[in-house]
Parts: sequence; C-alpha cells; structure tokens
Amino acid sequence: MTRVEFPRGFAWGAATASYQIEGAVDEDGRGPSIWDTFSHTPGAVANGDTGDVADDHYHRYREDVGLMADLGVGYYRFSLAWPRLQPDGRGAMNDRGLDFYVRLIDALGERGIAPWVTLYHWDLPQALQDAGGWPARDTAERFAEYANAVYERLHDRVAHWTTLNEPWVSAYTGHAEGRHAPGIRDAAAARGAAEHLLLGHELAVAAMRAHADDRSRFGITLNLSPVEPASDAPEDAEAADRIDAHLNRQFLDPVLARGDLDFLGVNYYMRLVVRAGQPHGRPSPWTGSEDVEFVSRGLPRTEMGWEIDADGLHDVLTRITRDYPPIPLYVTENGAAFPEGIADDDRIAYLDAHLRAAHRAIGDGADLRGYFVWSLMDNFEWAYGYSKRFGLIHVDYETLARTPKDSARWYAQVTRRNGLDGGGFDRPEP
Ligand code: FCB
Repeated sequence: MTRVEFPRGFAWGAATASYQIEGAVDEDGRGPSIWDTFSHTPGAVANGDTGDVADDHYHRYREDVGLMADLGVGYYRFSLAWPRLQPDGRGAMNDRGLDFYVRLIDALGERGIAPWVTLYHWDLPQALQDAGGWPARDTAERFAEYANAVYERLHDRVAHWTTLNEPWVSAYTGHAEGRHAPGIRDAAAARGAAEHLLLGHELAVAAMRAHADDRSRFGITLNLSPVEPASDAPEDAEAADRIDAHLNRQFLDPVLARGDLDFLGVNYYMRLVVRAGQPHGRPSPWTGSEDVEFVSRGLPRTEMGWEIDADGLHDVLTRITRDYPPIPLYVTENGAAFPEGIADDDRIAYLDAHLRAAHRAIGDGADLRGYFVWSLMDNFEWAYGYSKRFGLIHVDYETLARTPKDSARWYAQVTRRNGLDGGGFDRPEP
C-alpha cells in the first residue's frame, strides 16, 4: 500500500440526514413528515422501527459536534427537516424549528466545522403528500418557496447548499417500488415525481441564485453507479443502457446541461451489472425495465448485501468528467453497514479502498474536491430501521450512548494527514 495524499484544501466531512438522527418528532412545532406516517405503518419498516427518537440528535447535538471535532472534519453534511421549518409545507417559517439549526450551525462554527446543508433528504411534510406529493407539480413550487425562505434566513451562516438528496430514490423507491415513503406502487406516479423533483431543484436554485451572495454554492446530490452488461450479448448491452439512462443520465443530463450548478454531489455505494431477463412481477423501482436482472459477481458484500467494488467509485467520477462539462465534484456519501461492534476493520478496509479509488480518479482528471463518509453515526436506515449500522460512531439505542469505533480513530488520522499512509494506521490502544 502506497502513501496517498489528497490535494491541498480537500474537504473532509461526515454526513447524516434529519429523519435518520434527530428524533424529537413532536417538538417545537414540527409537523409530521411522510416518513413519520410510513414508519408508523405496520410492516413498512423492519422491526416496526420509527424515527421518533432515533439518535436524539435534536437534544444531543452539542455532544455530536464534539465527536465531529474529534474526527477532524472540516465539513458536516446534514439535512434540514422541512416539516420543522414549515410544518404544513407552506407559509410562514416556524422560528422554533429554525432556531435548532441556528444553534447547531453555531456549535459547528465554534469547532471550526463548516455546515453543508441539504434542503431535502426525503422527509416531505405530510400535508404536501396529502395534496398530491411529488407527483403533483405544486410540490415543486412549494419546494422552491421553502428553499428560498430558508436561504434568506441562513445564507449568512451557510455557504454550501444542496437542493435534493438522491431524487432517483425519492421518486422510484418511494413511488414505484413502494419500499420507502410514501409507499406508492405506481410507475406513472414515480415518473411524475422524478420530473417534479428535477423541476423543484431547478426552481429552488433559480430562486436562491436570484439574490445569492458571492460565497454561496449551489448543487445537488445524486446516487450514481457504473452500469455494465453481464456479457457481450447485444440484449445485455441494451439492458445496461436502459438502466444507465434510468439511474444516471435521467438526472445527470438535465442538472449538468444547464450549467447553473457550482458542484455535483455523488453518493456511491455500488456498481450494477445487468442482463436482459424476464419481468418478475415483484415491486421494482426500474419502471419500464422490470425485465432487467441484476447479476452478482461473487464479491464480498456489506451487511446491506451490496457488493464491495471500490473501482466503481473511480469509474463514476471519471465518467462524469468524460461525459459532461467541467464541474467540481464531491463524494457526498460513501460508506458501509457492517455488523455491530467497535472493532470495525471491515469498515476501515472499505473506506481505505474507496479513498484510494477516489484518489486515482483525481489523478485521471476528475475535479474531486471533497469526501463525506456515510455516516457520522449509526442511525435509522430507512426501511431497515436500526438493523443496519453505517456509523463511524456506535450508538447504543437503549442508552443513546455514543462510542467512536476504530474507524472513527482511523478517519481522524486520514483527515489530519490529508490522506492515507502506506502501512495502514496506528492501532488504537485496546
Ligand atoms: C443513501 C441515503 C442515506 C443512507 C445511505 C445508506 O441512499 O442517502 O440516507 O441511507 O443510502
């Protein structure tokens, strides 16, 4: 293993999302979100888990900011809960909800950590769902209004603004497969949601940009995967092309064509290898391509069942560089679920391999400016509830005690050295 050093000024971060960590769902005027409704629907989430308490970050944010400071990160990526700020998804700002984020951002500032805000990480106000949700055009307008209202209040404290997290997942896992909130299984609704998420993104950027200050940076975060055919057969190549269009180009083409973004956030977890098959009749997010089969290659897997393929991160970053106009890139999520434990060499190996792949992508021309681990701490992993642990920091869900895992100590060395050392990392004392 050779020593690897990242460019000077490379942004090191950790990421979370509001519903996955905050808890305090009834406090300070917060309204219900689609994830409150969904998680309280019997059978929707593993073990009947909900985000009611989650990591109780709403009350323990100061401790969590201290743990971030120990990691040595310069940035913290988190999302704002829309239903805290506009309990009904429209109208006046709920100041008590806003105050929480002001307190959090100020606590970050005291530790020299810059906020990286995501405006929407899946917790749509339930009132907007009742009015049609993302399949309705009005939701795009409401999102732009919300984004602009928040921007007005926080732009003096926040430079980096991400509109949406993973619109593909919002649209298709939520409205076609129905495995995420709002739990709809309707291909037309999913396509409408995708269209209006993209529209909402565009309207929000335009609204904020219209009165932006010089240091504001606007972007979006997409979940991207290289997609490859399982064989040389033309029907497999065609299947791969359709999946690539669905997952990658459907979102990359419109958001990068307009040239109005300052950065692109890339969430990377897996490569997809596909072949032409037969429709299976099971709920699927792949509208119009339900016939495509996803092929496993027998690689080691994470607890999610996702095959570990660090080269895929290199390939995603260099592909964007090759196929699209120049844009600063940030890996806004990358990480892995592994069995519960403080000794997590598997996570260290995973992150080490992906960082090396990211570094190679820089060498191959990708304008990669930063990297955020998913996740700062164990949290509510959507339909899997608390059964999947992605954190650098362990959370005991009985006591809510936080304990840094070995990977947290390892990552602190990475951030301080701005890279990876040849011989692994200095073992923490047992
Ligand atoms: C991504 C989500 C994030 C987390 C990781 C594991 O799709 O953006 O909230 O659940 O997957």
